[in-house]
Amino acid sequence: MTLQGLTEDPCRSQPTPEERVSDQPSSTPNQPSDWEAGFGDNPFDEDTGFDQHEGAAALSGANWWRSAVFYQIYPKSFADGNGDGMGDLIGVRNRLDYLKLLGIDAIWLSPFYTSPMADGGYDVADPTDVDPMFGTLRDFDALVTDAHARGIKVTVDIVPNHFSDQHVWFQQALAAAPGSPERARFIFRDGKSPDGSEPPNNWPAMFGGSAWNRVPDGQWYLHLFAPEQPDLNWDNSEISAEFERILRFWMDRGVDGFRIDVAHSMAKPAGLPDMDLSHYNGPNTQLDPDLRFDQDGVHEHLRMFRRVLDTYPNRMAVGEAWVPDDKRLALYVRPDELHLTFNFRLVLAEWSAKDFQGAIDDSLTAMAEVGAPCTWVLSNHDVVRHTTRYGGGELGKARGRAAALVMLSLPGTAYLYNGDELGLENVDLPDEVLQDPTWERSGHTERGRDGERVPLPWEGVTPPFGFGSSQDSWLPMPAEWEFFTVEHELDDANSTLSLFREALGLRRGLAELHGSSFHWQQAPAGCLAYRRGPNLVVALNAGDTPVDLPPGEILLSSSPIEGDTLPPNTTVWLRV
Ligand code: GLC
Repeated sequence: MTLQGLTEDPCRSQPTPEERVSDQPSSTPNQPSDWEAGFGDNPFDEDTGFDQHEGAAALSGANWWRSAVFYQIYPKSFADGNGDGMGDLIGVRNRLDYLKLLGIDAIWLSPFYTSPMADGGYDVADPTDVDPMFGTLRDFDALVTDAHARGIKVTVDIVPNHFSDQHVWFQQALAAAPGSPERARFIFRDGKSPDGSEPPNNWPAMFGGSAWNRVPDGQWYLHLFAPEQPDLNWDNSEISAEFERILRFWMDRGVDGFRIDVAHSMAKPAGLPDMDLSHYNGPNTQLDPDLRFDQDGVHEHLRMFRRVLDTYPNRMAVGEAWVPDDKRLALYVRPDELHLTFNFRLVLAEWSAKDFQGAIDDSLTAMAEVGAPCTWVLSNHDVVRHTTRYGGGELGKARGRAAALVMLSLPGTAYLYNGDELGLENVDLPDEVLQDPTWERSGHTERGRDGERVPLPWEGVTPPFGFGSSQDSWLPMPAEWEFFTVEHELDDANSTLSLFREALGLRRGLAELHGSSFHWQQAPAGCLAYRRGPNLVVALNAGDTPVDLPPGEILLSSSPIEGDTLPPNTTVWLRV
């Protein structure tokens, strides 16, 4: 499993359009009769959805999260409310009416906690306070109140694998002696060689370099990510007690759920043995299996999270677990563990019907075994935006729109990343503005994730496009985003924003899309099709040539439909 290809050059390993033609699902040639109503056995043929989740009504009550659309807000990049060029909680609060208009059900706020920002806020120095750059706890409370008043749920990030090196506990650990209780909250070890100058093992850090850092008295501490993010020692019961306190703190303030950061990393193997690095691919990649992640002991910690969540009504948690084996991923969402786990198969899928079908099929099968819904993602703050991954420009835009109509019509939960709805692409940023730790840690060989974190364009015709009152935004915005502002797209019935609004409105109203019913249908080469409930068919033409449209009344299409053909790179929702 690798994130690297996604953060660097997303297109470098993708097939050319010519190669893609031959990369088609095994199916019969393109004939009108190729769109057949169902084939083969179907493990998801439950048709139980309607009674459990009746349209919009499904979004209230205990199971609201089972078919919700979440919108990820990267606070630094969403909207600047205080004019300092960086997004903040006031900015989010000011834009809640936009989110209501868009039609999402819940927001997920990436970290806004006290942080020196060595890793975009995922280095948390105080997990129960707001960093002044994002506002205050009072701003947070007002945001929750206003979001709830609009029927929008609020979920927040929890970062349990590590704290910031500026957290008071780590400062105490540095000041304390080896073997002290202060050091036992983190993972301190003596070095391997007789003089202790070799790290305790050969583990690489995700952002590059060794996963160990040496302190002045000669001991080393483990950091799976940046050196400023010391790993917590989850074998120490003080840590789980502290995270119980953190969860309760935010639930008492009204949050509806959590996104658990690197949920597969808290448990470390006994003795911290060396890894076999013969197939290691460098920073931001995992091996399969990988001693740093997905150790069995992690599930006990996730059960603790669940026990605490269950003491409050209608709360949920979604895990970020990059676990390549679908069956092992499903273990994270057993009934006494997390409610949801991100499914990154669509993020990793290349643009082909075959890849998409495989990703969907495998994921549905694995999750059905444990009774959990799938949680679909196309983009987030760690991966190259999907419009860019799919080729960029008009091609990337068309494919991105088509992929969105697939994602939003699959059973389960969907997570949008802020700017997806505008069809934003990654931005090629100059070296001097890069802030992701990967850039420095990799010796300037990996550019990192800033390209997907550029602030959102809201209105006007020149940067910073209404992001805030300052002329400078923390990352520069491209001039061509004049045509991607919220203002511009709201006025255009054919914009990506208008498509998302229509799709989200239909999704809310169509009971078929809230249930679990799902049947593959036969499709022409280069295409895929599935039926949701008795009357709704979704068809994607991921190939390079038009095909005959399947029968049915078109409810929504990602590109204009002329005549009876389904153009390439297009998805339609049909009433049959
Ligand atoms: C998760 C976050 C990522 C962060 C890392 C370390 O993968 O999504 O942004 O750098 O954890 O906390």
